[in-house]
This record gives sequence, C-alpha cells and structure tokens, in this order.
Amino acid sequence: APDIPVAAVKAHLDQLQSIADANGGNRAHGQPGYKASVDYIKGKLDAAGFTTKLQEFDHNGAKGYNIIADWPGGAEDKTVMAGSHLDSVDAGPGINDDGSGSAGILEVALAVSREHLKPAKHLRFAWWGDEEDGMIGSQHYVDSLGADKAKLDSYLNFDMIGSPNPGYFVYEYDTRLTKVFKDWFATKKIPTERETEGDGRSDHAPFKNAGVPVGGLFSGADYIKTDAQAKEWGGTAGKAFDACYHQSCDTSKNIDDTALHNHSNAIANALWQLSS
Ligand code: PHE
Ligand code: ZN
Ligand code: ZN
Ligand code: ZN
Repeated sequence: APDIPVAAVKAHLDQLQSIADANGGNRAHGQPGYKASVDYIKGKLDAAGFTTKLQEFDHNGAKGYNIIADWPGGAEDKTVMAGSHLDSVDAGPGINDDGSGSAGILEVALAVSREHLKPAKHLRFAWWGDEEDGMIGSQHYVDSLGADKAKLDSYLNFDMIGSPNPGYFVYEYDTRLTKVFKDWFATKKIPTERETEGDGRSDHAPFKNAGVPVGGLFSGADYIKTDAQAKEWGGTAGKAFDACYHQSCDTSKNIDDTALHNHSNAIANALWQLSS
C-alpha cells in the first residue's frame, strides 16, 4: 500500500475544524455542521470516482445521514468495508473523535483512487451519522442490509486514531483481521495492545452483533496512560490518552501527527491486503 500523506489527512481535519467554527462550534447530529461535514467528504469522494449515496434516517426529531461510498469493481459478495463516525458531540468540534478516523479513511479512499486499485474483493467506505447517540446511523445501515449482510467479508472501524497522548490499540474480535493489523505494527516496531476501553461503544458493534467479522484501531480516549504504556509508546504517564475527549478542546490542536500517520498507514495496508 502507498504511504498515506499525513499532511493531507490534517488538511481534511482543518476543513472539519473550519466547518465547526462556522456552525456554532460543533458537527453534531441534527446541527448544520454535520450536514456541512457530509457535503465536504462526499464532494471529495465524488471527484475521485467513487459511487456515493446518502442514506437518511431520523433520530430525536432530526434527519441523520450516512455516506456510503463504493469503489467500482471487485467481488461484491465479498465486500471489505471500512467506516468512521462523522458526527461530533454537541460540546465541541470532534476533531480526534472522530474527525481523525473520518479524515484517515477519506485519505485512504483517495489513495485507492490515485493508485487505480483493482481489488479482487469489493471495497466500500462509510461515514456514519449519529454515533454519539448510540450508533444510530451504523445500526440503521446494518438493519437495512437484510440478507446482504452475508456479502460482507469484514467491517473495520476507526474511531479516534490521533489521540494527543496516544496508544496503539487493536480490536481483537476476529483472528484474521487482528493479525493483519498486528503484523503491520510489528514490522514498524510499534508495540500494540488489545483494545478494551471501547468494547461495544462504537460503530463496529452493530456489525459484530449481526455476525459480521469486525476489526479496527483506536488510540485511546479517557483512560489514563500507565507508566508501562508511556515506556513503550512515549507520551505522558498518568494523563488521559485524550484529555479533551468529548470536550470543546477536541480541536485540530488535539492531534498527535505521528499516531495519525501510523494509523492511517495501517488502515491502508489492511485494506490493500484484505481486498487483494
Ligand atoms: N465511541 C466512543 C465515542 O465516540 C469512543 C470510543 C471509541 C471509545 C472506541 C472507546 C473505543 O465517544
Ligand atoms: Zn465520542
Ligand atoms: Zn467516537
Ligand atoms: Zn489517474
């Protein structure tokens, strides 16, 4: 897989920050900053040759949107899917949670287009609405699949991949998917740990509950980095992985560039491998 340019990922984060700034400081479900975020991401995908659609749903009296983006080609009965939630909480702009995953998978999707990737398995990307009210958008999508859920080879979830005091956590639910991520980090000599902070708390949960193999990456939220973790990953022991989690200070300054870059490259490697 190609290197994912972290400057490009950060440029998407700057755009999401500007969108929040122009829309009352957030990108939350039902707020204008959410729809503006959708328009930004969808515009980039359309220009790169993806087949995109907006899936609408209603929650708490407001319309929500998932973006579903298909890369033409590959066996659709073996679809490899990657997703991140595009909504923030009401309290802030949501740049690490989950602008980071949203921008990371966007730049990986754009790399698929730049490289004219011709995968054996079909590739699909998703940006979920209204995760913060309980995975509403992703649950809506899984419910809408019906028998088509058997066509999903795997679903990979990326919720918070640029935490400012980062860890490297791999979801361990499926040995094949876990191995793809762990092997990549091992070649980079970056230690990883099993993800335990978020069990059932992000958009992989609806897929897992429906029997779809799931995997993913996470750089930590409000758990505290231990001394042992600071030794292996650097950063500050005794401090949260993301001290701005769900707060107004989750801005474009609330990102560790190295973690964002490593995770983005790990995503690209996983999608290249799993779809080949
Ligand atoms: N889903 C949580 C949120 O959006 C964040 C989270 C992701 C927590 C993954 C743990 C693991 O707030
Ligand atoms: Zn959140
Ligand atoms: Zn999140
Ligand atoms: Zn070209």
